[in-house]
Amino acid sequence: MTATPIRARSMGTHLTRLDGHEKVTGRATYAAEHGFTLPERPLHAWLVTSTIPRGRVERVDASDALAHRGVVTVVDHTSARRLAKPDDAELAVLQDDAIAFRGQIVAVVLAETIEAAREGARLVRVHQTPADSAPQVVIEDGEPYTPEAANAGHEPDVVQGDVDAALARAAVTVDATYTTPHEFNNPMEPHAVTATWDGDTLTLWDSTQSVHGVAAVLGRALGLARGKTRVLAPYVGGGFGSKGLPHAPEMAAALAAFAADGRPVQLAVTRQQMFALTGYRTQTESRVRLGAEPDGRLVAITHDALSQTSRYKEFVEQTATAARMMYAADARSTTHRVVPLDVAVPAWMRAPGEMPGMYAHEVAMDELAVACGVDPVDLRVRNEPEVEPETGNPFNERRLVECLQRGADRFGWADRDPEPGSRLVGDWRVGLGMASATYPALFMPGNTARIRALGDQRYAVDIGAVDIGTGARTVLTQIAADALGVEPGRIELSLGDTALPKATVAGGSAGTSSWGTAIVLAAQQLRADHGDDPDAGVESSSTSEGYPDMENLALHSFGAVFVEARVHRWTGEVRVPRMLGVYSVGRVINPTTARSQLLGGLVMGLSGALFEDGYRDPRHGHVVTQDLATYHVASHADVGDLQVEWLDEEDTAATPMGSRGIGEIGIVGTAAAVANATFHATGTRVRALPVTADHFLG
Ligand code: MOS
Repeated sequence: MTATPIRARSMGTHLTRLDGHEKVTGRATYAAEHGFTLPERPLHAWLVTSTIPRGRVERVDASDALAHRGVVTVVDHTSARRLAKPDDAELAVLQDDAIAFRGQIVAVVLAETIEAAREGARLVRVHQTPADSAPQVVIEDGEPYTPEAANAGHEPDVVQGDVDAALARAAVTVDATYTTPHEFNNPMEPHAVTATWDGDTLTLWDSTQSVHGVAAVLGRALGLARGKTRVLAPYVGGGFGSKGLPHAPEMAAALAAFAADGRPVQLAVTRQQMFALTGYRTQTESRVRLGAEPDGRLVAITHDALSQTSRYKEFVEQTATAARMMYAADARSTTHRVVPLDVAVPAWMRAPGEMPGMYAHEVAMDELAVACGVDPVDLRVRNEPEVEPETGNPFNERRLVECLQRGADRFGWADRDPEPGSRLVGDWRVGLGMASATYPALFMPGNTARIRALGDQRYAVDIGAVDIGTGARTVLTQIAADALGVEPGRIELSLGDTALPKATVAGGSAGTSSWGTAIVLAAQQLRADHGDDPDAGVESSSTSEGYPDMENLALHSFGAVFVEARVHRWTGEVRVPRMLGVYSVGRVINPTTARSQLLGGLVMGLSGALFEDGYRDPRHGHVVTQDLATYHVASHADVGDLQVEWLDEEDTAATPMGSRGIGEIGIVGTAAAVANATFHATGTRVRALPVTADHFLG
């Protein structure tokens, strides 16, 4: 059965966040708080981590720690439960004596209080022997290679036409290299877990974007029978990708709890430890070459992306993939290379690939606009492709030009001075910049929703999805209400538990699309099977395979970001008083929560543009800036007049709700728009994020 589009009644209205009251009154329980709800008092876990980048653990001396009051036990690689399948090196925690990076978990201290656990961790003496050869921890030291397509999520290299010939013939060319630094997910709630064993059954309350994903991966690695791993995540205090897959701390908590004699264990990863143990956005280097006719029409696009991975596990930032579908050009080449280093493994961070990639591509487009003497908005309009360049598939909804024009009108783009560096207001140089944004309308198969009619037109809707703070609980309720033809107040939605039907990750901006489609399918099946008898006590589940037609349609969201930047003429300080994002994202199911997602994406893009910069120690490879004092993220004082709007649309080719995803597109292109605005303000082109004051001095 395939779903048919549903009529919007609740969808499109500002339904108040259903869990808002629990959250603001402190009644919502987060992962590390569940220990207090259990009959057995929990033990507190504290992670002990390696201090050398590569080598061996000779011995973990826990004698002083165990002598400390309140410390119960110390688990290390000699005592931890063995994994059945230790093939994922990141999750093979405490399985042998190898040290692959500085900051790796080498022991876990369990104690009666969190203070005792922390002091116990300080008292553990880890004897480590460095490897004979020097570790490689900076990208300049390593040898780039071509990654596995499977890890890149796409073919690493795609070449169409003869780019070198096209570039040689082009009237105007841009050839520049753009860099982005290591960036780190900093959700408000750190990674945290409460773990408990009951015989051979493991239960985790986890701060995760995917309860079923964590259960499957951990259960398999531990060799547990199906159904013997239960994961719950009723409330999650944010996640931008780092909670999309299980990382080492979850396994550490599970192993520690196994050693805890039946007592639950609760672990909150410290903010500092998150910089090594929960993934991060790798630094990237993008060489972009553009060739164009004198009027700016592109004839060639190349994007060669270099990033860094870890030697023990491959992760590939898919930096160049947006250049495959964004603009028209006959010749195109996009490549990915990675350098393996003796450092912690990178992972997902909001719009992995698109964020650094579209920064590079959209600054290069701004450089091309200058080189051709064409307005940056017009340049993008001139390079609209008729079909998706990589596949030749028709775009289902490509309304980039409307976003650009709407944004330009609303932002006052027409009044922009043609010459960069020509406006001074007091001591501030003022400029306007813009960039395009895009994100694919991803859809994940394999979701099941269960709906039971409870009588009196009430329905229980069950799906093992997770609301990580996005508002999923609220919008899924609206979707269910419209699919069943009742008021949202008649829906009792349950999520965040593997005891509920299988659901995919809250990631790839695909949660609402994928889960919502499964809910619509189940509702329509319930109606088909039971007609107009809404009070029948039935269950109906449907998977969402086969929807939508991603083989033959190019499904993407688009946007345009406009920025006013001010650069102080004497200090180089950069301020962004105004930002506007205009988006085409399909139907907006809840304008309140959608606006928050898009605003959050813009703020995170601003943050990446101006502040975020993980500094890696070139000797040991650990991140020095491992707190929110030295790793600065944008805060209230950094954000000026921030506006978002969206086009009125309904994309029923993407989902029966007419929606696409909105979680990530807000960050895409935003850093480029900021950088381009600072160029327009000053005439100085910055090709390295973050765009800091020093670039504008001297
Ligand atoms: Mo997001 S990086 O898709 O969790």
